[in-house]
Amino acid sequence: MAKITVIGTGTMGSGIAQAVLSAGHEVTLIAHSQKSVQDAASRVGAGFDKAVSAKAITQEQKSAMLSRLSVSADIASAYGSDFIIEAVSENFDTKEGVLKSAEKYLGSGILATNTSSIPITQLAAGLSRKDVFIGIHFFNPVPVMKVVELINGEATSPGTISRSFEFVSKLGKTPVVVKDSPGFIANRLLMLFINEAARALDHGVATKEGIDTIAKLGLHHPMGPFELADFIGIDVCNDIMLEIFRRTNDKGFEPAESIKKLVKEGSLGRKSGKGFYDYAARV
Ligand code: 3HC
Repeated sequence: MAKITVIGTGTMGSGIAQAVLSAGHEVTLIAHSQKSVQDAASRVGAGFDKAVSAKAITQEQKSAMLSRLSVSADIASAYGSDFIIEAVSENFDTKEGVLKSAEKYLGSGILATNTSSIPITQLAAGLSRKDVFIGIHFFNPVPVMKVVELINGEATSPGTISRSFEFVSKLGKTPVVVKDSPGFIANRLLMLFINEAARALDHGVATKEGIDTIAKLGLHHPMGPFELADFIGIDVCNDIMLEIFRRTNDKGFEPAESIKKLVKEGSLGRKSGKGFYDYAARV
């Protein structure tokens, strides 16, 4: 059993905590404030409830897994971890600040960032332990999705890559090592796809329902591009597209008009009740 610290209690942080607990490790989850400690524990519990409902685990197994979880608002609780996985919001300054604090408690462990688009080498620049720093990109919903991108920065050591590879494999997920390049692989593919679907919609080529149906039935995707964009968050998609566009100057990543409009009006997908689809109307 390893001690793993996850910093950040949002969708990704709580999902990563659940996946790591499920693999038998001890998890320390670091919340932003004392006030959010209880919410964080409840969120992880709610994730396990889904697994209980799907009969993937029993109530007893859920209790055993949760007994290995501790939640703290003090980053010093990360001390002695084999892995510290930062999963705070996708903002360079926020991540850099958290990573700088976290590396003080690293010991002989590995420091990882869960990012969908921020360059690892750039984040490493502010750190003194660059060789043990790596990008670990989990997918949402973390307990269900079976692949993880491992992103090595310029200074990431081969030992850090191989230990991370082994750790991710033991979570029951397939690690794929990718270079530190804009959007890595997943979002390089996915954001072009979502953006192109939005452009087709903007040009009146088909309805959003029609485009989603074609992707689901014709391409065998579990969700259509608009359902998926709403699931990920329109703001998150917009930010990732802008980040890749800024770095590559590839027009394919310049957010489509409909995406810009949704972000502007605060229709950010499922989390705000409306995105490409209206979720309030669906209840
Ligand atoms: N813990 C354990 N199991 C869970 C769970 C959780 N937190 N959440 C869901 N599950 C289980 C369910 O219990 C169910 O199990 P079963 O098949 O044994 O009954 C299974 O997962 C599927 O869940 P649901 O029945 O609730 O719903 P669906 O069958 O509609 O599947 C979905 C939902 C898995 C989200 C599916 O629609 C899907 O795969 N969608 C695509 C998701 C995707 O593409 N994610 C990647 C997003 S991109 C990304 O993350 C990168 C980022 O950088 C932007």
